[in-house]
Amino acid sequence: MGIIYITTPIYYPNAPPHIGHAYTTIYADVLARYHRLVGDEVFFMTGNDEHGLKLQRAAEEKGVDPESFVDEMAGVYMSYWKMLDISYDRFIRTTEPDHEEVVKKAIEELYRKDLVYKARYSGWYCVNCEKFYSEKEYSIVEGRPHCPIHGKPLEWLEEETYYFKLSEFKDYLVNLLENTDIVYPRQYAVEVLNRVKEEGLKDVSVARPRERVWWGVELPFDREYTVYVWFDALLNYISGIGYLRDTEKFDKYWDSVHHVIGKDILWFHTAVWFSLLKALDIKPPRKLIVHAFLINKGLKIGKSAGNVIAIEDLVNRYQDSDGVRYILMRVFNLGKDVEVSTELFDSIYNSELADTYGNLVRRVGVLAIKKSGGVIYKRSLDQEIESKIKEAVARYSDAMESFDVSSAVNAAIELAREANAFINRVRPWEKLSPDKDLYTLLEAIRITTLMLHPIIPRATSRVARAFSFEIANPLESSPCSVERYEIREAPILFRKIRGK
Ligand code: MSP
Repeated sequence: MGIIYITTPIYYPNAPPHIGHAYTTIYADVLARYHRLVGDEVFFMTGNDEHGLKLQRAAEEKGVDPESFVDEMAGVYMSYWKMLDISYDRFIRTTEPDHEEVVKKAIEELYRKDLVYKARYSGWYCVNCEKFYSEKEYSIVEGRPHCPIHGKPLEWLEEETYYFKLSEFKDYLVNLLENTDIVYPRQYAVEVLNRVKEEGLKDVSVARPRERVWWGVELPFDREYTVYVWFDALLNYISGIGYLRDTEKFDKYWDSVHHVIGKDILWFHTAVWFSLLKALDIKPPRKLIVHAFLINKGLKIGKSAGNVIAIEDLVNRYQDSDGVRYILMRVFNLGKDVEVSTELFDSIYNSELADTYGNLVRRVGVLAIKKSGGVIYKRSLDQEIESKIKEAVARYSDAMESFDVSSAVNAAIELAREANAFINRVRPWEKLSPDKDLYTLLEAIRITTLMLHPIIPRATSRVARAFSFEIANPLESSPCSVERYEIREAPILFRKIRGK
């Protein structure tokens, strides 16, 4: 039994979460549920990034104070995660006193170590990204610098600020990126390395003048400043497991930390985060798993592009969270952007959930009740299906262990497809006593169900109840281990979507 600590980015709650945030969060949840299923001890954390100019302005626009705004939005985020069955162990908020304490102590330590100093800063800033952009990065539209991600005009900022000596960590960072497999997939490590080689590693500002950004953690050694929101936010990963408060807990979980992020925040999670950890004498994360974007008509889905797909619309369309979770994990891609559309989603839902897995469960359930009174005793399995089961489990486990959730889903659904083909071939409805076929099919269903459990927990729990078996570790559930099946009902799990 191992231990694994899984994190999502903490989200800016200036607006409710959309399908892009759900993509990351469901993926991390599937990893967490998979590890629990195979017997690991899991600590899974998500949360909100509640400070900074973006939140300060969002609250101002609504005419409320930021504090009550972020309180309200924390409730909104939690209700979305509940709607999607996200099984987090902790929901962290950067306005919590424990976290703020860690931020203050961390920056104080860096100041003491001479890694933070005061100087003048000027540059082009995107409030949506909460980030400065260099000449190389921004795009020029009508003669003015624009954000390459949001396409909006950048703001010129000039101020005295405090810097973190990121430049001192260049060799350390390059060594980590070149010689370890922390960043996954590797293409993202190469991307950061290229940037470091091209631009070097410049010091970064870690504070904002209070007169402009007052909604943040006060800089302990200069009250005229607040801590820069990214510096504050990154520290959630250590404050959330008891850094400086509960050493035992911190040591236990930090060793196995797996961060899940989108590629938009790769730089902060490598260049800045790895260096910051080193500066605090903390070892680098075990894994940084980076995924690409969900896009629509070529543009990253997001509030700024105005092409948001609402989570509740998807949950309504596919009846509950399972459909949405399945679809998003089926298209999930670490390396490449995925173009999404209702047609694509409907076709995955119809052909795989309704016609393949759902149909298999329904057909076998009905047959078992009709032909055998719902009770099927253990028999030897059809050999071909038995080897398909073993193959599927091996593929599934390899895929999950390499964080490739969509291939894991594929391995499971492929087994359901094989089982459907088996029914058509052996035609159990024509036999007087088809119990051997039915037992084979029930075992195929059971193993498919166990494999799909982290992805569609509701439907799979329902099948386990209806067919009287336990949800257990698919990697250790050898075929032919159930003595007796009692089929209590033949559930219709997924209703097909017809038309628009
Ligand atoms: N608050 C920072 C993160 C701090 S972590 C220490 C932030 N928040 S965010 O609300 O903008 O969320 C960004 C994350 O949401 C991305 O990294 C990604 O995981 C997810 N996504 C948002 N839109 C997305 C898509 N269109 N496609 C895929 N993921 C997307 O950045």
